[in-house]
Amino acid sequence: MSTTSTPYGTIPPASPMPQRRPVSLPRLQQMREAGEKITMLTAYDATFAAVADAAGVDVLLVGDSLGMVCQGLPSTVGVTLDAVRYHTESVVRGLQRAQGTCWVVADLPFGSYHESREQALRSATVLMQAGAHMVKLEGGGWTPDVVRFLVERGVPVCAHLGLTPQTVHALGGYRVQGRTDESAAILRRDAHALADAGATMLVLEMVPAALSRSLTGELPGCHTIGIGAGSGTAGQVLVMHDMLGINLGKMARFVHDFMSEAGSVRGAIETYVKAVKSGRFPDDTKHAW
Ligand code: KIV
Repeated sequence: MSTTSTPYGTIPPASPMPQRRPVSLPRLQQMREAGEKITMLTAYDATFAAVADAAGVDVLLVGDSLGMVCQGLPSTVGVTLDAVRYHTESVVRGLQRAQGTCWVVADLPFGSYHESREQALRSATVLMQAGAHMVKLEGGGWTPDVVRFLVERGVPVCAHLGLTPQTVHALGGYRVQGRTDESAAILRRDAHALADAGATMLVLEMVPAALSRSLTGELPGCHTIGIGAGSGTAGQVLVMHDMLGINLGKMARFVHDFMSEAGSVRGAIETYVKAVKSGRFPDDTKHAW
C-alpha cells in the first residue's frame, strides 16, 4: 500500500482492515466463553460509526449521552425517542458503508418505557426499525417485567445498573453506586432479576470493581459491560468523545484519553480495542473504585 499525496500533505496508508465476522448474540456468547473481552463505544453519526467499525469495535451504543455530547443538554433526561431514532439511523447508514460488523445497541430514553410494557414495546419497535439490534434501558426494581415482555417478543435487551444517568436527580448526582453492603445487595438482586428476565447484556456504571467482578462470575449468560466498574467485567464501554479527549469539562477518573498517544481517531479507537482485549484498560489502580 502506498501513501497518497494531497495539497494538504501526505496521507499514510490506512492499516489493513481485518476481515471480521458480524457480531451477533451467539458471537458475543462465544467471545464470553473464550474469555475475549467485548469492546463497546458510543457512536452518534455515520462517519464515527464507520471508523469505529473499521477499528475493530464489537458493539456500538447509540447512547442517550447524545443529549450532552451532540445537543448540549445538561443531562440525558431531555433526550427524546425521535432523537435516538435519528442518530440510530445515521449510525446504521455509516455501518452499511463500512464492514458492518458491529452490534448496534440503542438507548430507550427517559419516559419512553416507564408508563407500561406496551409503551416500552412501541418505543423499542421504533429503534429496532431504525436498525438497532438491541435496546438498552436503565434501572432495576420494576424493569425486569418490561425486559421479559420485550425479550419474549424478540427484542434483545441490554440493562443498565449502578449510576443510571436518567435518574441522576433522584440519585443526587453522578456518584459511585453499590458502595454500602445494603446498596450492593440491591444491585446484585436487580442484576439477577434482569438476567433471569432475559437481558443478555448489562452495563455496570460507576460500581466498585469487586462487586462488578463477582456479578460477572454469577451471570454467565448476561454480558457485563463496565464503565468505571473495574477490569473484571466481560467488556468495557466509553463515550467516544471522552476517549478521544474531546471534553471541555473535567475528565472522569474512569476515562482514558486514547487520542493523546495515538494521533488519529482511527488509531485511538484501535488502541482502545487492543487495550481492552489485552486487559490493559482499565487499570484498577487508576480507573476503578
Ligand atoms: O448513554 C450512554 O452513553 C451510556 C453509556 C455511558 C454507557 O449509557
